[in-house]
Amino acid sequence: MLTGKTVVLGITGSIAAYKAAELASRLTQAGARVEVVMSESATRFVSPLTFRSLTDRPVVTSMWEASSEFSVEHVALAEAADIVVIAPATADIIARLAVGIADDMIGCTVLATKAPVILVPAMNVNMLHNPATQHNLAELKARGFTIVEPVCGRLASGRIGEGRLAETEKIIASIKQILSKGNDLAGKHIVVTAGGTQEPIDPVRHIGNRASGKMGYALAEAARDRGATVSLITAPTLLPKPAGIAVTPVRTTAEMKKAVARSVAQADALIMAAAVSDYQPRKATKAKIKKEHPSLNLELIRTPDILSQVKGNFLKIGFAAESENVIANARQKLVKKQLDLIVANDITDAGSGFGVDTNKVTIIDKQGNEEALPLLSKREVADRILDRVAKLI
Ligand code: C5P
Repeated sequence: MLTGKTVVLGITGSIAAYKAAELASRLTQAGARVEVVMSESATRFVSPLTFRSLTDRPVVTSMWEASSEFSVEHVALAEAADIVVIAPATADIIARLAVGIADDMIGCTVLATKAPVILVPAMNVNMLHNPATQHNLAELKARGFTIVEPVCGRLASGRIGEGRLAETEKIIASIKQILSKGNDLAGKHIVVTAGGTQEPIDPVRHIGNRASGKMGYALAEAARDRGATVSLITAPTLLPKPAGIAVTPVRTTAEMKKAVARSVAQADALIMAAAVSDYQPRKATKAKIKKEHPSLNLELIRTPDILSQVKGNFLKIGFAAESENVIANARQKLVKKQLDLIVANDITDAGSGFGVDTNKVTIIDKQGNEEALPLLSKREVADRILDRVAKLI
């Protein structure tokens, strides 16, 4: 799968730079053409000659030296790349990429490329956890970069903590995964809903739920990265707006229903990851309810079921977040809502459900087949769901 692929490997100044030698070697052995670009500080840790010898290709260390065939045209590497991998990625390069600085060859290449970009951070634990770095990583993720997360272990400082470069094996798996997905959803239009709808009680209060929107956003971003045109209809969340995706913000179930009806006209699939409120107050008061009354009765009525009522010839994928009889309940919903797939998760499972970055789900199809997935990141769960969608479309 790596044969004939051009991997641009950006190496920045971390002690973990020596591990990039193994990565370069393994990728070359697997048949990839590995074009190494080193930052000035990376060359202080490892000699460019190491990479030149391993890859049998010139190594780019500066935009100005005529040391390689690429130095003349600073975007040539960006265009040649099937994938760009920055390993190790320091806090500095992560910050510079987040704002789009292009004053060296790595910055230029990333800014100019249309290829997918993987960042493999390695740094001191405090630098990693600093809100600036976390903000930059979140920003880059929202733009479609893949982050191969650093692991816990002994750091160069001698401290034990998170910040070690991920294992070579994991980096290669991520490269393969991205290259194999390619553009399998190119030309397809996918509508995704996310977040928890809010039903107003009065001008300041609402009935809501604990959905963070993370699963829906992960699906939207994964579908975008696989070439789909994506419409994301989102109830309020704290997540950054993903790039390259048409986002329609909504608040109530009624608003979501309208937005879905509008978006599905040309859709190939609707994925309802939103946690839709099942009830709404019969009437939201215009004025703020005062607390003079010792008690207050709120009459609730059912909201419309968006997924059951939406019409059209596209795949319908639902979610079933359950706390008991998970599979049986999910199966019932699959039939009742006439879905092609349902994704069941037990919200009482550790690492699953609201707010967290991981999820453990079972995908059930129309024929009743179950695929139980292990605990995975929401992004990986999204890709596993989209593997199924890509086959069904
Ligand atoms: O709430 P319930 O468990 O029935 O939700 C299952 C699926 O139906 C979810 O995909 C959810 O987004 C969708 N749903 C909907 N409209 C509702 C309630 C749920 O589309 N009113």
